[in-house]
Amino acid sequence: MKRSIILFAICIFSINSYAQDAKMKTFIDALMQKMTLEEKLGQLNLPGSGDIVTGQAGNSDIAKKIEQGKVGGLFNIKSVAKIKEVQKLAVEKSRLKIPLIFGMDVIHGYETVFPIPLGLSCSWDMDLIKRSARIAAVEASADGINWTFSPMVDIARDPRWGRIAEGSGEDPYLGSQIAKAMVTGYQGTSYAGNTSIMSCVKHYAMYGATEAGRDYNTTDMSHQRMFNEYMPPYKAAVEAGVGSVMASFNEVDGVPATANKWLMTEVLRKQWGFKGFVVTDYTGINEMVDHGIGDLQTASARALMAGIDMDMVGEGLLTTTQKSLKEKKVTLAQIDAACRRILEAKYKLGLFDNPYKYCDENRAKTEIFTASNRAEARSTAAQSFVLLKNNNNVLPLKKSGTVAVIGPLADNKENMPGTWSVAADFSKATSLLTGLKEVVGSQVKIITARGSNLDEDSLFEDRAGMFGKSLHRDSRPAEVILQEALDVAKGADVIVAALGESAEMSGESSSRSNISIPKAQQDLLKALVATGKPVVLVLFTGRPLALKWENDNVPAILNVWFGGSEAGYAIADVLFGDVNPSGKLSTTFPQNVGQVPIYYAHKRTGRPLGEGKWFEKFRSNYLDVSNDPVYPFGYGLSYTSFTYSEIQLSSASAKGNQTIKATVKVTNSGSVTGKEVVQLYIRDVVGSVTRPVKELKGFQKIELKAGESRDISFNISPEDLKFYNYDLKYDWEPGEFTIMIGTNSRDVKKATVNWAK
Ligand code: BGC
Repeated sequence: MKRSIILFAICIFSINSYAQDAKMKTFIDALMQKMTLEEKLGQLNLPGSGDIVTGQAGNSDIAKKIEQGKVGGLFNIKSVAKIKEVQKLAVEKSRLKIPLIFGMDVIHGYETVFPIPLGLSCSWDMDLIKRSARIAAVEASADGINWTFSPMVDIARDPRWGRIAEGSGEDPYLGSQIAKAMVTGYQGTSYAGNTSIMSCVKHYAMYGATEAGRDYNTTDMSHQRMFNEYMPPYKAAVEAGVGSVMASFNEVDGVPATANKWLMTEVLRKQWGFKGFVVTDYTGINEMVDHGIGDLQTASARALMAGIDMDMVGEGLLTTTQKSLKEKKVTLAQIDAACRRILEAKYKLGLFDNPYKYCDENRAKTEIFTASNRAEARSTAAQSFVLLKNNNNVLPLKKSGTVAVIGPLADNKENMPGTWSVAADFSKATSLLTGLKEVVGSQVKIITARGSNLDEDSLFEDRAGMFGKSLHRDSRPAEVILQEALDVAKGADVIVAALGESAEMSGESSSRSNISIPKAQQDLLKALVATGKPVVLVLFTGRPLALKWENDNVPAILNVWFGGSEAGYAIADVLFGDVNPSGKLSTTFPQNVGQVPIYYAHKRTGRPLGEGKWFEKFRSNYLDVSNDPVYPFGYGLSYTSFTYSEIQLSSASAKGNQTIKATVKVTNSGSVTGKEVVQLYIRDVVGSVTRPVKELKGFQKIELKAGESRDISFNISPEDLKFYNYDLKYDWEPGEFTIMIGTNSRDVKKATVNWAK
């Protein structure tokens, strides 16, 4: 009975969506019949919109193009007033009155800024992540935006790459869950109403595997690695119904992604069934000239024929496609297909019904940076922090006595939102110092000093302070700045050292060959530790850093990433124990940059290092450092502690599609309530191709009171054992599997299962 109701509902839904699709097709067919070739190409054009100033849009170069029907959309324009003004040009002055689509890099919040994506991923909390995307969509849509260039789901295993900050870390399973949560958060269940915006998953594909961690560099890997390790999050976004996809800058198999037909058409559309539109990245077509693919006309023709629908900034499609059509380098069918996809996106968003659907000044006044959004951002930020070390329970701090807050990042509000905070109003962000003072009021005396500059090199500091995020460099000699801090520290019971990276030391075009805390700050940290007072390192960073010295010498380390506009308060909440930290790393933290790339789901090699060993001649290791990271994937401490029982299996063997239940009893063995992420890993012991030492296959975030225990179970089915084999067939192979459950990827309980086909 229940099944027939569900089937009936599915039938009604399918009939409905079929009818809607048919209606859309009729509308777009009619519109396209009226369009000239030039107008069709106009829809594929997404120019840069730098020169749009309220009240002057009508005189700009862009305005003329809009009136001529040569613009499909614009991006990164902030405010309803400006957006309304240009939309008016499109729907009142262009011949066919086709509305524009308005995009923006709403990456981790709009004006209410959430933690950078790498930080957010450490919450391992999908509802929380989805809510953050929903709030971002509500705020952005209240300000005229209907399309976001997010989520960025590039798997990244090289912390030299600055854009590791923008994604969800190294793991395809976690990354896929987050991709789904973000897409559904932005897009909601439908575009009805005006708070859901179209999501754009990026950067398709494999952008995070850039050689040497240098941005925009070459990428090359086996197809097996692609499909098993790098593709899953893009695919998950497509399965979640993402409306658009952004092509990446890098090459794939020797062809830039932007011109890679196999990637854009064969895999994305034919294998995965993607129905939305594909936009290039910023000047992605033009850059193929430098890649050595040919002149702009060739690059544009190849992009279009590969499956690109919209050209960001470079105008290659707009300016060269007519010639290419005459020369038969492109087909009209392909131009029509691309144009149709852009029109469909606008239709689905409801822009043909109401081009000003997202331009409600009243919403702009009342729905952005609200108290409730800020409260959500504050609690979300606290969930993203990862407690890396806490010797002798230095943390949480007592709400009494004197705390010295020292470091170049202690009182810098511009830095709190982190990279890619296009819509943020830095003046509204709260520095750590202000946050601490407001949270603990008069209970704690807070004293402060700068202690050092971000880095000794002022030019480096300039590069690391772009986009209005100045570090306010102190021009006094380093010794004077340091001595002042040591004098201040004398009066403190505990020192909070606010150090690490500035916001723009990660993000786009911010690769580093040295992933340590800059030396000027390290010198300060060493001097603070040498005072003998308890030191808490509050670490700001957009990437995993090499923290060997810090881990060996600093009593407590709280990694706060860049927590967003409310991070100053959230850090105070965690430092003083109002919130118990529960973040778990989504990337491995190496001992030094020489170990990079380092990730938990590595292969074994033919000469694996013996368990517990750190060097054996003729084994796969280094002479000068062990193979271990400082902090493994999945790691993070709490103010309480958790113990795990051995794994109980419902059966040690299975056949075919059976399910096995693996259970552990998790106990909060400490003295306060805390959250724990219980992680399931599986190893396929023998395979027709080599298999990783373990792979994340499930997790559950739970909360336990002090002394409380709970049985946590995972149902494991053959779906969890599947992988892409040598022939890229997605299947599982019978044999022995090691089931691992634990608090991080290193510390796990193990059990063995034999699975027959
Ligand atoms: C970035 C994209 C971004 C685009 C638009 C590019 O430089 O790679 O991630 O969405 O700019 O701002």
